Amino acid sequence: MTDAVLATSYGGPEVLEVRDVEVPAPRNGQVTIDVRAAGVNPYDYKVYSGMLGSDESRLPMPLGSEVSGVVTAVGADATGPAGLVEVGDEVIGFPVSGGYAGSITVPATSVIPKPGALSFEQAAGLCATGVTAYHLLEATGVGLGDTVLVHGVSGGVGLTTAQLAIERGAKVIGTAATQRHDTLRDHGIIAVEYGDGLADRVRALAPDGVDVALDTVGTDEAVDTSLALVHDHDRIATIAAFGRAEQAGIKLLGNGPGADPGSDIRSRARLVLTALVERGLLRVVVARTFPLAEASAAHELVAEGHAGGKVVLVP
Ligand SMILES: NC(=O)c1ccc[n+]([C@@H]2O[C@H](COP(=O)([O-])OP(=O)(O)OC[C@H]3O[C@@H](n4cnc5c(N)ncnc54)[C@H](OP(=O)(O)O)[C@@H]3O)[C@@H](O)[C@H]2O)c1
Repeated sequence: MTDAVLATSYGGPEVLEVRDVEVPAPRNGQVTIDVRAAGVNPYDYKVYSGMLGSDESRLPMPLGSEVSGVVTAVGADATGPAGLVEVGDEVIGFPVSGGYAGSITVPATSVIPKPGALSFEQAAGLCATGVTAYHLLEATGVGLGDTVLVHGVSGGVGLTTAQLAIERGAKVIGTAATQRHDTLRDHGIIAVEYGDGLADRVRALAPDGVDVALDTVGTDEAVDTSLALVHDHDRIATIAAFGRAEQAGIKLLGNGPGADPGSDIRSRARLVLTALVERGLLRVVVARTFPLAEASAAHELVAEGHAGGKVVLVP
C-alpha cells in the first residue's frame, strides 16, 4: 500500500485527498517505482475541475503524469525506450497515470534513465513540458537563424521551448511578467512584457521580423500578436488557444478537439531531452516543492499561472 492523492469529486483543489492505495506487483513489461518526486502540470487540476467533462465513473481520480524515482521491482521483459530497466535504476516515468503517490507500477515503455545532472525534483519536471516544447519546435520547423516569439516564456513549457530553440540556433523573444526578465536574460532570452502594445514592443526588438510564434498562454493577445507579426501562419502554433486556433488558421497541438497529439514526436522527444540535459544544454527550473499531503496548495499555485517554474510534489 502507498499514499496517493486522489480527486474525490469534481471541483477545486479542496477535493483532493490523500488515501491509501494498493501498489500492484509488476507484471510482464511493467516496473514499480519508489517515487521521489512528482511533477505538477496545469492539466492535473483542469482534469477534475469539470472544464474537460465530469464523468462520475472516473472518481476517485488518480492524478499525475510524470515522476522520478528509483525502481524497486521489475516484471519480465521490462524494456524501456533506453533498454532493460533494472531494480535500483534512477528513472523518470512519463507518461504515467497516478504519479501523485509514494510508489507506482507503470509500463516499462514509460521509463527512461534519470539524467545524473538533475535532482529528483528537477527530473520530475522535465518531460511533460519538455515533450510539448519539442513538439512546438518540430511542428513549426524552428532552426538556425529563425527569430521565435514565445508567449509565456517564464512558464514550464515556455522556458523549455526557448532553451530548445536557442540550442537550434534561433533568437528567442519571450513574453513574461517584468520581475522575471533578469532571470530570463540569463537563459539568453530577450524578455518582453505582455499586455497592451505587445506587438509594437516585439517589432522594436525584431526589426527584421518574427519567423515563428509559439503560444503557451492562449489569450487573444497572444494569438492576435502572433498573426500580426508572423507572415507564414503555418509557423504559428498554440498549445492553449483551443477556442481560436481553427478560425485563426494556426496549428493546435496536444490532446483535445482538432489538435495534433504528435504522439510519435513526443514519445521520441524524451530521450532527446535527457541527452540535452546531460550535455548541459537544457535546465529545469523548480519554482517550489510541496509535500504530497499539500497537493491542494500546489494546485492553487499552479492554477494562478505565475509559479515561475515547475511545481513538484515530494512524497
Ligand atoms: N496542448 C498541450 O499539449 C499542452 C501541454 C502542456 C501544457 N499545456 C497548457 O499550456 C499552458 C501552459 O502550461 P505551463 O505548464 O507552461 O504553465 P505555467 O508553468 O503555469 O506557465 C504559465 C505561463 O503563462 C504566463 N501568463 C500567465 N498569465 C498571462 C497573461 N495574462 N498573459 C501572458 N502570459 C501569461 C506566465 O507568465 P508570468 O508568470 O511571467 O506572468 C507563465 O509564463 C497551460 O494552459 C497548460 O494546460 C498544453
